[in-house]
Amino acid sequence: MATEADAPVIPLLTPYKMGNFNLSHRVVLAPLTRMRSYNNVPQPHAVLYYSQRTSPGGLLISEATGVSDTAQGLVHTPGIWRKEQVEAWKPIVNAVHAKGGVFFCQIWHVGRVSSPVFQPNGQAPISSTDKPLKQNGIEEAQVTPPRRLRTDEIPHIVNDFRVAARNAIKAGFDGVEIHGAHGYLLEQFIKDKVNDRSDGYGGSLENRCRFALEVVEAVVKEIGAERVGVRLSPFTEHAECGDSDPKALGLYLANALSKYNILYCHMVEPRMKNALEVVECPHSLMPMRKAFNGTFISAGGYDRKDGIDAVAKNRTDLVAYGRLFLANPDLPKRFGQDAPLNKYNRENFYTHDPVIGYTDYPFLE
Ligand SMILES: Cc1cc2nc3c(=O)[nH]c(=O)nc-3n(C[C@H](O)[C@H](O)[C@H](O)COP(=O)(O)O)c2cc1C
Repeated sequence: MATEADAPVIPLLTPYKMGNFNLSHRVVLAPLTRMRSYNNVPQPHAVLYYSQRTSPGGLLISEATGVSDTAQGLVHTPGIWRKEQVEAWKPIVNAVHAKGGVFFCQIWHVGRVSSPVFQPNGQAPISSTDKPLKQNGIEEAQVTPPRRLRTDEIPHIVNDFRVAARNAIKAGFDGVEIHGAHGYLLEQFIKDKVNDRSDGYGGSLENRCRFALEVVEAVVKEIGAERVGVRLSPFTEHAECGDSDPKALGLYLANALSKYNILYCHMVEPRMKNALEVVECPHSLMPMRKAFNGTFISAGGYDRKDGIDAVAKNRTDLVAYGRLFLANPDLPKRFGQDAPLNKYNRENFYTHDPVIGYTDYPFLE
């Protein structure tokens, strides 16, 4: 008679030790903006949403969460710079911990992907540049021309990230993920098709990465390297943010991050043209995976088979799932049983209903 012990091992569902965290499997909840945090305050309905997606020993990364009052560009995205926001996160984090999950808070600043309606005193959004996005609007965002940050203002933004990280720990999160991907503020400095500065934060690769690495350094000093992850997408051109040599950029950052001994590096696959669109691509993340000395998380366009393959062939340690996890709260269990998956409904990714398209995706039973 076949017993459980005879069942084939599924590499994606094997345990993994990530720093001090004992993960029971490698299926990670990718950061997913859901725009249901009214007036930038996380809401009680997020308790159910995140706890539905928690499994014992599973890693969850929160939706992108603003570091300051200049960081927003989309309506009803959460923040973590005010006390009220920190307090509102606490029950959500507690619910994830109660079910044995490990929870990281993704912290961001959108930079130029914003407009005066989201800014204090109706001021222009800030960026590395004063070049506007050519298309008026990506996804749900309305954008207006940014104001180039002065060199002397940059330390203040670094400090906002530091304080946000401290607040995340106060709220009970296990750590933070610094959002250095998808064309937001950090990438607006990192990538040469946007950064047109002539000060110490523009020009060479080293200069362009300076701001992001100053943020990493400040956050590491504040909460400890063992609680810090960074998300990068050297190959995407999301929000018109591209680079002329993404491989060199990815490698430079993987090596630079290794020096800080941060917990993880979370990279978006080169096949992602932007945050959501998959294209044919000859590149891989292998050079970056080899260069980075901590845990490596890959994301973008993964299904069950692809995730199993990537872990089996040691191309990554963990795989983050976005749309499939959004629509399947019990995704690790479904992968374990090779059960059918719910289809995601793109129409309510970013709507504000506290239930529909949010907490109403069915479980297996
Ligand atoms: C609704 C939605 C919201 C997203 N919000 C974020 C976000 O807040 N931060 C981020 O880094 N990526 C965000 N992404 C990108 C996802 O984390 C992920 O990289 C992307 O969906 C590709 O992975 P997938 O093919 O598994 O969905 C978002 C994607 C979707 C579909």
